[in-house]
Amino acid sequence: MCGIVGAVAQRNVVPVLLEGLKRLEYRGYDSCGVAVHADGDLQRARSTHRVAELEREVQDTALAGFTGIAHTRWATHGAPATHNAHPHFSGQSRGKARIALVHNGIIENHDELREELEAAGYVFESQTDTEVIAHLIDHLYSADLFEAVQAAVRRLEGAYAIAVFCQDEPHRVVGARQGSPLVVGCGQNENFLASDALALAGTTDQIIYLEDGDVVDLQLSRVWIVDAQGNEVKREVHTVQIHTGAAELGPYRHYMQKEIFEQPRAVGDTLQDIQSITPELFGDGAYDVFKTIDRVLILACGTSYYAGMTARYWIESVAKIPVNVEIASEYRYRDSVPDPRTLVVTISQSGETADTLAALKHAQSQGMEHTLTICNVGTSAMVRECKLSYLTRAGVEIGVASTKAFTTQLTGLFLLTLALAQVKGRINETQEHDYLKALRHLPVAITAVLALEPQIMAWADRFASKENALFLGRGMHYPIAMEGALKLKEISYIHAEAYPAGELKHGPLALVTDQMPVVTIAPRDELLEKLKSNMQEVRARGGELYVFADADTRITASPGMHVIRMPENYGKLSPILHTIPLQLLAYHAACARGTDVDKPRNLAKSVTVE
Ligand code: F6R
Repeated sequence: MCGIVGAVAQRNVVPVLLEGLKRLEYRGYDSCGVAVHADGDLQRARSTHRVAELEREVQDTALAGFTGIAHTRWATHGAPATHNAHPHFSGQSRGKARIALVHNGIIENHDELREELEAAGYVFESQTDTEVIAHLIDHLYSADLFEAVQAAVRRLEGAYAIAVFCQDEPHRVVGARQGSPLVVGCGQNENFLASDALALAGTTDQIIYLEDGDVVDLQLSRVWIVDAQGNEVKREVHTVQIHTGAAELGPYRHYMQKEIFEQPRAVGDTLQDIQSITPELFGDGAYDVFKTIDRVLILACGTSYYAGMTARYWIESVAKIPVNVEIASEYRYRDSVPDPRTLVVTISQSGETADTLAALKHAQSQGMEHTLTICNVGTSAMVRECKLSYLTRAGVEIGVASTKAFTTQLTGLFLLTLALAQVKGRINETQEHDYLKALRHLPVAITAVLALEPQIMAWADRFASKENALFLGRGMHYPIAMEGALKLKEISYIHAEAYPAGELKHGPLALVTDQMPVVTIAPRDELLEKLKSNMQEVRARGGELYVFADADTRITASPGMHVIRMPENYGKLSPILHTIPLQLLAYHAACARGTDVDKPRNLAKSVTVE
């Protein structure tokens, strides 16, 4: 979602703020802006273009200052327009701006506060909920910004991370968080704020993760934090190694392409050097938890949800434990029947997804205390909230469309399957050994699939002129078909839907014409012959099939039937391999259509608002 950076220093902070914005731009790119305390005034530059444009503008106007804040926006309230871009000011109506503020999140009671502030004489320039906070702080201000922010956040309902500074207090930035991430970066006589430590890479590696309800006072040589009750709290300073290399494109055209090709490394790293399966891979006390539970509830959104759906097939068939997989944003609001003997598993790349976090808290509030997360960010709220965790080692994922996060999640989930099966006595040592061997071979197997890129590019050119596509899979490859359809629609804007192939004749077959490409995942498994019949149903209606077929399926190309041969069937881990060509297909179709692959329209990475 939105990205926030703030700084108080004895040097011009604009380069630090802009560098931070560039690193966070993938989180939201509807507009961006920077404000500084300069020559006794608040000055700002805002743009509805990308950060590179803003940087040019800032250079032209020589904007500089020792204290400042910056923001990249993913629009919620108000269109992507300059007047809605952050930072927002308050106090201009008195002749001079006094408060500058940036915000990530959604203020639910903004209408009510707006009315109140309008009645107090404030004139709003934007349609944002953010401007309400700026005016509220200004309204409550009397010589101490820290106090005004503490008073203001008590009035806010919803989620926020904010960074604020004030014209009257030139060497101070105040931050606060509730439900949206915010970190402090500690330096030598300078301090920083950011919505993600990544923004501060190269500036400081000394990071404090603020907790919900915290308000922080940043001055040159002081970081002072109070909790929601106003009590001083000490939060641990972590030394965080952030790989700035993740932000380099190298020889690739897009981050998405780079991240697709990083998958052999990412999956290998996620497996670390695991010598044997043990529940303790998921944390201390995992054995007791796995022994106790007799069902699994998986909560996630988007691509991570599809990872969960795949895991259901694995856990039910290998560990023989019933699994329920729920879309987090639905689960949190529906009446469900809680069972304390449930292992609640959240899956999240970012570990900050608001819906997944809220669903987790909902499950906890229902008495389900056995929580585990499969997550890519060790310092995230999800990892802090869950008792057990397994960290995927995908590395920073910059492309908005998730790729390496997905395959590493699947890797972690397969390990979870094996650990559960072991504790429940559902696999023997030989099976365990064979599964581990197959897991370890994955990086090599993925590399072989990546070599199919030239063939997939040829298909992608044909897809580029289409407006619709169907994806078919069966069994544990059905969620992979869903993931393939999601990838295609989110980056190429081709409308794509996935169906379990057996479901086609119950309705969607009506869509099939010679204009409809039908992507089919055809592994050699027990459902292959059924799938072949479904493919014939499509061919009989003139539909054009694009089939990713395992080498040993005896599916051959013919008019209207295009075939790319995958390696031999990879057994239970086949969904991981079949994901790769679908990522490449979406990527190259998007390139052929000339879309902004890494920053698709209307989207943003890390969805920290509801
Ligand atoms: C799609 C995509 C999203 C995310 C979803 C959950 O390519 O990236 O669907 O998977 O927003 O995000 P995380 O995994 O960070 O919780």
